[in-house]
Amino acid sequence: MRLIFLGAPGSGKGTQAAILAKSQGIPQISTGDILRKAVKEGTELGQKAQEIMKRGDLVPDDIILELIRERLAETDCKSGYILDGFPRTLEQAKGLDRMLGDKGIQAAVLFEVQSATLVGRITSRRVCVDCGETYNLITDPPPPDGICLRCGGKVIHRQDDTEETVSNRLAVYEAKTAPLIEFYEKKNKLFRIDGEAPVEHVRDQLFTLMRRLGS
Ligand code: AP5
Repeated sequence: MRLIFLGAPGSGKGTQAAILAKSQGIPQISTGDILRKAVKEGTELGQKAQEIMKRGDLVPDDIILELIRERLAETDCKSGYILDGFPRTLEQAKGLDRMLGDKGIQAAVLFEVQSATLVGRITSRRVCVDCGETYNLITDPPPPDGICLRCGGKVIHRQDDTEETVSNRLAVYEAKTAPLIEFYEKKNKLFRIDGEAPVEHVRDQLFTLMRRLGS
């Protein structure tokens, strides 16, 4: 199973990718998580990405494509993967097509959520710095001591989850990523999910889609 999870910031891609990856035994490949790890470790990639991410802009396509090429070559990707937050530009989508050749991806799953909901979800999101576990102050609060339930790491507010950065991230999504909807629609690979529903309902829609796709 080779899937793309597409959708605006805060649309629930990461939450659902984690659920599906666990149930299917395939990796969730989040370019955002890979970049955040590089920033935390202060690598060359991290130093290049840090300011760009803080502003809510996109990291250059060539960097992202190289990162994906290396990740997809790892052995755990042999039986499939979920690309969470990649591709994000037409150039990245075309680069992925070139990388995969004839086998291509099976589906691009679009999580549809209204802007007002997105802003609320992102500004109330909290994440674990170590394992990336996601919490939400309103729907799924972290423990009061700020210690992650899964790994014991520190739960924080992401630097790019402020209201100012979120509005730029949403504008960048509309300008650069939304055109991918038509790109995958034309290939008959686009499948829409109502991302406004509660997490479990979104998960059920996703599982139904996976059965339709034959996995
Ligand atoms: P990235 O980490 O990919 O951020 P994003 O796409 O902006 O997506 P988010 O992580 O904000 O949202 P999500 O859809 O995963 O939502 P989540 O499930 O967490 O990218 C960060 C930055 O890295 C980019 O801005 C860019 O700079 C760079 N970058 C990354 N990839 C790149 C690429 N390919 N090219 C160039 N640059 C790149 O949910 C959000 C919140 O809502 C959570 O609190 C969650 O608990 C809650 N929630 C989820 N689902 C529901 C629901 N159904 N109901 C109620 N609450 C829900």
